[in-house]
Amino acid sequence: MAEEKKERVQTAANPGIDRREFFVKMGLGSMGIAAAGTAVFGYQFLSPNVLYEPSPVVNMGRPESYQPDSVTLDVDARIFVVHAKEGFFALNAVCTHLGCLTAWKPDLGIIACPCHGSKFNVLQAGKTPGEKIEGPAPKPLPWLKMSLSEEGELIVDRSEEIRPLQFVRV
Ligand code: FES
Repeated sequence: MAEEKKERVQTAANPGIDRREFFVKMGLGSMGIAAAGTAVFGYQFLSPNVLYEPSPVVNMGRPESYQPDSVTLDVDARIFVVHAKEGFFALNAVCTHLGCLTAWKPDLGIIACPCHGSKFNVLQAGKTPGEKIEGPAPKPLPWLKMSLSEEGELIVDRSEEIRPLQFVRV
C-alpha cells in the first residue's frame, strides 16, 4: 500500500494519476502528434504543385459595341480589339521590347509604349497593323487568333498568334 502511494505522480491538474498511466498518456499523445504531422505532410506531398492561370481565351463581346475605325484596349486581357474597314482583328498589347503595356494614341493614330518609346502602326494606310514604326522593340505587335462564337461574339485566343491581315468579317 505504501509502495503504491510512492508510484503516484502528483500534478496540479490530476493529483491522482500514477506513473504508468502518465507514461501511457504521454506515449499516446506523442503518437497522435506524429500521426497528425505525417497526415499534413502526406497531403502536401500528394497535392499537385501547379499554378492555376486564367484561360487564354477571352470573350470580347458583340461586334456592334465597337465603332468603325476604333482601337479598344482591354487592360485586363492585355489586347487591342481593332475595328478596321476590312474587319476585326486583335493585337497583343504587350510591348515586344521589355513587356510594358502599350497604349492607343488616337491623336497620333498609333500604338505607343510608355517605357522606351516604341511606336506601332494600327490604322495607317499602306502599313501592316502592329508593324513597328520606331523604337527599340525587336518585333511587331503580334496578331492574335480571333473568331466569332455561335452567339455572334468576338472571341480572342491570347495563346495563339496568327499571320497578320487575317480579319474577322461580320
Ligand atoms: S518596353 Fe516598350 S519600348 Fe521598351
